[in-house]
Amino acid sequence: MCKHLIDRLASGSELSHDEYLTLIDRRSEIRDYAAALARDIRQQYYGNRIFIRGLIEFTNYCKNNCYYCGIRAANAKIDRYRLTPEEIVTCADNGYELGFRTVVLQGGEDPYYTDEILADIVSSIKKKHPDSAITLSLGERSRQSYRILREAGADRYLLRHETADKTHYETLHPDSMSFEHRMQCIRELKDLGYQVGVGFMVGSPGQTAEHLARELLFLKQLNPHMVGIGPFIPHQDTPLRDEPGGTAELTTFLLSLIRLTLPRVLLPATTALGTIDAMGREKGIEAGANVLMPNLSPVGVRKKYMLYDNKICTGEEAAQCITCLKNRVRKTGCEIVTARGDYAE
Ligand code: 5AD
Ligand code: FES
Repeated sequence: MCKHLIDRLASGSELSHDEYLTLIDRRSEIRDYAAALARDIRQQYYGNRIFIRGLIEFTNYCKNNCYYCGIRAANAKIDRYRLTPEEIVTCADNGYELGFRTVVLQGGEDPYYTDEILADIVSSIKKKHPDSAITLSLGERSRQSYRILREAGADRYLLRHETADKTHYETLHPDSMSFEHRMQCIRELKDLGYQVGVGFMVGSPGQTAEHLARELLFLKQLNPHMVGIGPFIPHQDTPLRDEPGGTAELTTFLLSLIRLTLPRVLLPATTALGTIDAMGREKGIEAGANVLMPNLSPVGVRKKYMLYDNKICTGEEAAQCITCLKNRVRKTGCEIVTARGDYAE
């Protein structure tokens, strides 16, 4: 048994690459133990509170061509949309009424939304709802752009690194994208004082247990405020359509290891996890996650923001998802709260 490695993580020690690898390889023996300690640690820093973030997917235009992603530029089959600044602010208002105190503006890398347009959106939301946090998830932009948006009132930024291994990164992205630039963006966001979220897909094509051990070391070293992980789910109109997807079993185990490695981290049970397993989000919470990110986008556009096949909650109104999630979360012994849910410093 390798329970002692879990105990060491829980007591704040660092593990080596090979120790993480052992845990990943022998996870079937220790997953319940790891989850129980991960829940204890979450309890210690955040109690039984689960934070909710209202996600507004405001554009599915994207200039990139990541091989895994359904809204990649080369996918001619999808119906593209952009929400107007007014529509975006209205979504944020609706979210506020529903109790959300964090709004996440997410989109493909769409040059239509200049710094000026985005800064206006951010500052008008901030002005109307000064007690809310604004999170951006807009991909790679210039340092100058990140600074303008930060000054306009954005508090947090999500930019998944996708993989901490350069060679693996290059197998998932075309030559026009670079691992170094992505890492540079993450450093700049940190420098500018954003609360930063990174993350990766579990079971992405070519990912090995060694890669995952490296992911955990990378996370320990970076010490981000948030980590978003979800299973890779093949999308039918992408080059990776025939690859197998990631599993809920591995994703939830990694959630526990991440909670044990970064005790205070804000860790969502993602929609992708809820998509491959009807109880995926509950299992994520039981593994140590403490964030849910329901959709606030207008129902009319939801089906168009398909990063992967069969995405859940594309037909439900935000209010329906909230009621549904409250019931689901309660069954795990936790409670959804409407607090901003900042990082526990
Ligand atoms: N399966 C799972 N997650 C995906 N993402 C993009 N495409 C897929 C897919 N096919 C994730 C990426 C991206 C985030 C917005 O969604 O990690 O950073
Ligand atoms: Fe959307 Fe259950 S969370 S319907």
